[in-house]
Amino acid sequence: MGISFESLYSDIAGRCGKLTVGKKIVKTPALLPVINPHLQLVSPKELRKMGVEAIITNAYIFSQSKQYRERTLSEGLHKVLDYDGVIMTDSGSFQLSVYGEVSITNTETLSFQRDIKSDIWVPLDIPTSPAADRQTAEGELSITMQRLAEAKQVFGNDAPIAGPVQGGIFEDLRERAGREVTALGFTFCPIGAVVPIMEQYRYRDLVSVVMAAKRTISPAACVHLFGAGHPAMFALATAMGCDLFDSAAYALYAKEGRYMTVHGSYKIDELADLPCACNICRTHTVEELRTSPQRDRLLALHNLHVTLAEIARIRQAITDGSLWELVDERCRGHPQLLAGYRALLLHNTELEKTDRTSKRRFFYRGDESCARTEVLRYQQQLSRLRLGREVLVAFDGGAREEFDDTLLFKPPFGPYPKELRETFPIGQSEIPEWDDAMVRQGCRGIRALVESHPDTRVVVSCSKRWETILRQEVTDCEVRSEPV
Ligand code: GUN
Ligand code: ZN
Repeated sequence: MGISFESLYSDIAGRCGKLTVGKKIVKTPALLPVINPHLQLVSPKELRKMGVEAIITNAYIFSQSKQYRERTLSEGLHKVLDYDGVIMTDSGSFQLSVYGEVSITNTETLSFQRDIKSDIWVPLDIPTSPAADRQTAEGELSITMQRLAEAKQVFGNDAPIAGPVQGGIFEDLRERAGREVTALGFTFCPIGAVVPIMEQYRYRDLVSVVMAAKRTISPAACVHLFGAGHPAMFALATAMGCDLFDSAAYALYAKEGRYMTVHGSYKIDELADLPCACNICRTHTVEELRTSPQRDRLLALHNLHVTLAEIARIRQAITDGSLWELVDERCRGHPQLLAGYRALLLHNTELEKTDRTSKRRFFYRGDESCARTEVLRYQQQLSRLRLGREVLVAFDGGAREEFDDTLLFKPPFGPYPKELRETFPIGQSEIPEWDDAMVRQGCRGIRALVESHPDTRVVVSCSKRWETILRQEVTDCEVRSEPV
């Protein structure tokens, strides 16, 4: 029993995997819609029909509810919600972060979650505010860690308990939290207290916090990004290695009359048409949707369709190896997402370690593509080329008799022997007309080649157009420039 996770395909640090909880299986990445028993716009049974394999609800609400408490204890959560997939329960920590206190202890909430037959239980962790200073974050993390240790001690190592990773905005505390939950044996690790960071569009901070936590969480653990509900950021989070998301946003947005798209949301009053392929949008006019007495429910269904479709899109991208292209596309929807994407690219050295070796393709989509993991890896591997004493790198591809070897040049990667012409990434990369950024990056490949082959004399022939960039990037090789 317990919780286990298996990664089947990967791309960047993202995984398509299989989460096993007891006898139930969830394909990841996955979205867990949040169910509030008191306001159900879409029932768990309908969610199941939409292919939803796991949902999340709040055990604290059930424990405090006159209507539900006893019934759930006697009949079990699955019967009460009429749902036979995986049900994860949260502890009341969210209420703790909003109201400052809850009338339940760690072992009480865990016992309650066990007794209502929840599939995944969450201890009473403390979601540290991103505004908290270091001392507060450290103190709260220590309490969270004590409670996680207590959870293991009281309920045993096989109990299906999640180990939330806290630590505020402090990278070293997130690293410590990841290390400690791993040492305690947790295989299901939510990254916590990121809701306020995302609400404030602080995607750079999100990247710093998630990357720090992922550095020390076991690669064999399933990682849940707690409270991440907007589909525009799923691709970015998946690229960092988050496997699960939970969304209350589909319902909360609907109640506020907001219509989700993968590029951002609209107020329903701002929409001139319904730019979506789901059955709600194809069977209603925007006017009908706006004025329907069922508006909130219809919007919630649309929002769910968009959110679930994005998860499917991400799974396909991981299978193809085109997740970087999807991240690039989605992160241009908001300037702060673009800032997050650029921050992620600064972690390319770390991300390269888990990135796969071959992909369906590499599409160059602008300057950002120069920092991708495939470019970094290609340039690192140039040191493996066996070269003669005199080598020509020919931008125009023409060989010259007097050299032992002639290499071709493809930006943003750099020099390559013709034998690699059909292999990834040289053969599967599509680039537009050469621009300064990609040629500059390609020249760094030449520099890597020069530095890793001290016994080889490298000569580069290029047109006048690229000579300045080449001389700036590669200072110790002979340049023969030819008229454009
Ligand atoms: N929901 C959103 N964030 C959190 C968190 O940090 N901890 C718990 N338990 N639930 C959450
Ligand atoms: Zn729709």
